[in-house]
Amino acid sequence: MTNISSPIGVFDSGIGGLSILKALRSVMPAERFVYFADSAHNPYGEKPEAFVVERSLAVARELVEGRRSKALVVACNTATAAAIHVLRAQWPELPIVGVEPALKPAALATRSGRVLVLATRGTLQSVKFAQLKAKLEAEHAASDANNNQGTLQFTCVPCDGLADRIEQLSASGKRWQDAPDLVALCAGFMTASDPFSLKNEEKNKGFDTLVLGCTHYPLIRDAFRSLAGDAVTIVDNAQPVALRTMQLLRGKEAPSEQVGGVVWRSSAEEAQLVQAARYWGVAQD
Ligand code: DGL
Repeated sequence: MTNISSPIGVFDSGIGGLSILKALRSVMPAERFVYFADSAHNPYGEKPEAFVVERSLAVARELVEGRRSKALVVACNTATAAAIHVLRAQWPELPIVGVEPALKPAALATRSGRVLVLATRGTLQSVKFAQLKAKLEAEHAASDANNNQGTLQFTCVPCDGLADRIEQLSASGKRWQDAPDLVALCAGFMTASDPFSLKNEEKNKGFDTLVLGCTHYPLIRDAFRSLAGDAVTIVDNAQPVALRTMQLLRGKEAPSEQVGGVVWRSSAEEAQLVQAARYWGVAQD
């Protein structure tokens, strides 16, 4: 049995979910969280879907049955795409929130209609992602017929190795500004699909909206910003996920006088996770 003081379980393949946890803690400061990083088995994004489903189930079991979580947040786009339906079938009564690349906010934000989506190979190859993309394109085409807004075009680039490189950054304690190879890796993915032009501020030329479709990527948002320039809108779904979780917990919220906090769990080194959480500004305690 869970109660209002039970924790909210949050997991990712590694440290990427810290970008979601940060938003969760800021909207629900009195809640207790258990964050699980499956660092012994990451990256998920380049592994077979069946492996991601199996790991997601194992981690969720620890959070739901082992830790008695009152809600579960799948803070990983790749695990959400592969496994959220399996998790919902396993625990039908439990509030379960996933994260998907922020295509909807991007479709609302873009003026040129050209949106660049960076995500893992697993996310971009998933049926769930294909359905989301097709739905938004169809909706846009229908409204376009009325408003003559121009076409909406999502260009999707799988970023092999990027989540892993972001893990290494915090493990090394370096800043992204002192990691030129990481910046070059990001630039390579951003320019992989011609005709993206960095810092292209001319209207209707190049992408005007960038989706960070893996929870690791917002951790280095400033690096993407420095490459893309100020005219590009950069979106992710951390805040909507936090607000949706809060909404689903209505009536089961922690008492406001409760002191919130996080229990850190990892399938590898917990000390490394705590160090990463401090590095990314998610663990003050
Ligand atoms: N952070 C994960 C995501 O949002 C995946 C990173 C990985 O393990 O490949 O997709």
